[in-house]
Amino acid sequence: VQAFARPAGHHHHAAAVFRGRAAAAPEPFTVRLPLPPVLKPSAVLADADVYRLTTRPAVAELLPGLRTPVLTYGGSFVGPTIRATTGRRVIVHHTNALETGTSVHLHGAHVPAAHDGFPTDLIAPGTTRTYEYANQQAAATLWYHDHAHHMEAEHVYRGLHGFYLLEDPGERALKLPRGSYDIPIMLTDARFAEDGGLVFIMDDSGNRTTLLANGRPAPYLPVAGRRYRLRLLNASNMRVFQLRLAGGEELVQVASDGGLLPAPAPTDTTTLSAAERADVVIDFSRYPEGTKLVLDDVLSGQPVLRFDVGERERDDSRVPSELRPQDPLPEATIERDVTLAYDVDLGWFTINGKLFDPERVDFTINEGSTEIWRIHNSADPIGVPHNLHVHLVQFQVLDRDGVPAGPQERGPKDTVALAPGETVRVKATFADHRGRYVFHCHQLDHSSMGMMAVFEVV
Ligand code: C2O
Ligand code: CU
Repeated sequence: VQAFARPAGHHHHAAAVFRGRAAAAPEPFTVRLPLPPVLKPSAVLADADVYRLTTRPAVAELLPGLRTPVLTYGGSFVGPTIRATTGRRVIVHHTNALETGTSVHLHGAHVPAAHDGFPTDLIAPGTTRTYEYANQQAAATLWYHDHAHHMEAEHVYRGLHGFYLLEDPGERALKLPRGSYDIPIMLTDARFAEDGGLVFIMDDSGNRTTLLANGRPAPYLPVAGRRYRLRLLNASNMRVFQLRLAGGEELVQVASDGGLLPAPAPTDTTTLSAAERADVVIDFSRYPEGTKLVLDDVLSGQPVLRFDVGERERDDSRVPSELRPQDPLPEATIERDVTLAYDVDLGWFTINGKLFDPERVDFTINEGSTEIWRIHNSADPIGVPHNLHVHLVQFQVLDRDGVPAGPQERGPKDTVALAPGETVRVKATFADHRGRYVFHCHQLDHSSMGMMAVFEVV
């Protein structure tokens, strides 16, 4: 399923073939999980924190002993984490020091169109653009990444991604693990050349076989014998991660894309398609000191991360039996169909039969209205998984093929996975902001090649 022809007019990667040798598969558990740096504000105003970030090339040691040229926000392969609080504004001055245009999207955020990172709303090389985020939404594990027209796949693959962690007082009062016991973990994959270079070929996901956690192959993380909150983000372009602790040990999911679930969802497996998040709590006090507990990706059969359990520690965190009720949404007044399909003539994946045209409005939506979108992954003639991400809103997943959403999908969501042939219904209210936004498959090689569309709120 990797060998698709390219749609006419998208020739910029057409000749890419890699004939070099691949880097040797790295030994697992030899490097420690790095934590992305937390970005310091350049100014703290009465009602806003101001940040400056430069998008620039850098060299990172992703594989032990090799130097990998990457693209970064501020120099680190997992960009610096921005910490924000509901109700307090964040202003980010983004300077683009690359030779191509960039566009910054805060994934999962409810923001005006001018600050959403529309694909053609570019930061020209050598210029600075200011994005403002009002943070008028609940606590959530958000992330920021590039969204430049046709380029998002390569840019994100090479490193333009970082966490944006939004907190609110209600969540804080729940006493979930916090501070150094609250750990963002960005999962990606990569194809490495022998010299450590990242090989990017469009739709080459089958060859991106090295899994990375915060930019390192199967690292280890020393943990104390107590509860931790892990914020798992699948920032890979194309991979589905199916995460499971060795032995089927329990993970308790507490949040999904847009924030807290109504109630904790204990499970042995968390499945994340590209861009989805799951915050899980693991209680390491269940294990004797010295236990080494591996988090595996079931689908690839590869380890993702190993927890090395240390001494028991005092722990006043908890996981209450109720977290945050799901907001009831008004009755939907519109139902729409969104069909994801392979077009034989175009030789590529489309949404409702069309490739992305940033000038074309596909759906016009009245501000404040509530809609149900029936999203269908047509298996014909090539059945591949897709997903759908809708900008501006957090939606509720109603059902999959008529079966009500499971407990792990009951929180606010902005991205939903679709197996071949599957139909998922989601419901959202399009409030507060007018203008043009995109929705797309978040398998970024797909969106970069045109599996994206525009809605305009009027
Ligand atoms: Cu994560 Cu349109 O983006
Ligand atoms: Cu897709």
